Amino acid sequence: MSVLAKEKITYENAQELKSYIFRGDGIKDIEFTTGNGVYLWDSEGKKYIDCAAGTFNLSLGYQNKEVIDAVKDQADKMVHLSSSYLSRPVLELAKKLVEVSPKNLTKVTTKVSSGSTANEGAIKLAQYYTGKREVISFYRSHVGQTIFMQTVSGLSFRRKPFNFSQNNISHIPYPYCYRCHLESEYPKCNYKCVEQIRDYILYGSSGNVSCIIMEPILGNGGNQVPPKEFFHRLKQLCDEEDIVLIFDEIQTGIGRTGKMFAAQYFEVEPNIMSVAKGLGGTGFQIAAILMEEKFNIMEGYLHSFTYGSNVLSCAAGVKTLDMINNDEFFDNVTNCGNFIMERLNKFKEKYEFIGDVRGVGLMIGVEIVKDKQSKEPDSKLTNEIVKRALDHGLLIRTSLYGFGNVFKIRPSLNITLEECEEMMTRLKKVLDEFQR
Ligand SMILES: Cc1ncc(COP(=O)(O)O)c(C=O)c1O
Repeated sequence: MSVLAKEKITYENAQELKSYIFRGDGIKDIEFTTGNGVYLWDSEGKKYIDCAAGTFNLSLGYQNKEVIDAVKDQADKMVHLSSSYLSRPVLELAKKLVEVSPKNLTKVTTKVSSGSTANEGAIKLAQYYTGKREVISFYRSHVGQTIFMQTVSGLSFRRKPFNFSQNNISHIPYPYCYRCHLESEYPKCNYKCVEQIRDYILYGSSGNVSCIIMEPILGNGGNQVPPKEFFHRLKQLCDEEDIVLIFDEIQTGIGRTGKMFAAQYFEVEPNIMSVAKGLGGTGFQIAAILMEEKFNIMEGYLHSFTYGSNVLSCAAGVKTLDMINNDEFFDNVTNCGNFIMERLNKFKEKYEFIGDVRGVGLMIGVEIVKDKQSKEPDSKLTNEIVKRALDHGLLIRTSLYGFGNVFKIRPSLNITLEECEEMMTRLKKVLDEFQR
């Protein structure tokens, strides 16, 4: 079957096979068969635009030919090598990652197998280097789903059924300007939130804080975009208190903001940065930790995984960076992002239930409320919109994070303006159905 075929595929045993799968997520039982760019087809032949780029990881869309060819090439030579040894794809990827990252980050490890294990490694590096223990992270953050990273993440509902130890992990409010927890207003606030973090460190912490781990734009937690100056002040605070600043760039990295990393967009230099998702280009599993030279003291065996430094994935990463790292590519992200934001802002004027639209590049969130005045979160309506979107051939993701009332527009970064237009036309039809 060709990639663009739309004919229905009849699987005799579809129902039987579905009965074996553990899912537990209530998402409609659609079986997808083919992808191409921002598009997906299901077994009925129906075509969808994926507004979430897979799991926010398909920087180059479904089935990117160049990346797949690079992986095929590598597969002909060597499919696996222990991460203890060196190979071309690993070495080239490390060099390229350093070249495209903030200039203070000069060392890389790819021995990790996922975003969660990259973040765990980042925290180990911070603890090892500083000799300190406490980890600070933010409310509503999602920094992974291993037991440890679920504990570091900023939402209790995922911890509730389990017996996790919260020892040495603290959570502080994220700068959520639309609903400032200090009931202040940007820019009049004079960054009281940073002063509150300072107070916590000085008066409330163990006095032994190793690191602050932060998503520079909160991904699953509602697409919160802090002001630039917040980061400058936070970095200064970290420097003053000898605390390592870790950026989790697992969603924001690899071009999503129109810069290679959000750190570059916000003009801040984190001490350590974790990268994953988009680095795999068209869906290859990969992750990495970038660090300042001074962290290059921890023994490698303290953090390495069987499928870390996977040579196929590293080949995909090299090709992905080659394709993304140019002005034309970044301009497309910015232009398409601006186009979508403009449309969404018009929708915001029209629909009483759109409270806020925010984003940078192609990392965009739409906050759904009962009404603009009260700003009361409407997660029920958000979920209905997401479900209805499927009928209109749009895959949109929301989540239980935050108030569960923000849906996300984060398509593949090589989307075209025409595809953005098609996406917004379909979205308008969905929203029209809910106009009160
Ligand atoms: C910001 C962020 N950090 C970490 C993770 C965890 O990555 P993984 O699922 O590869 O472990 C995710 C996954 O969604 C994420 O969005």
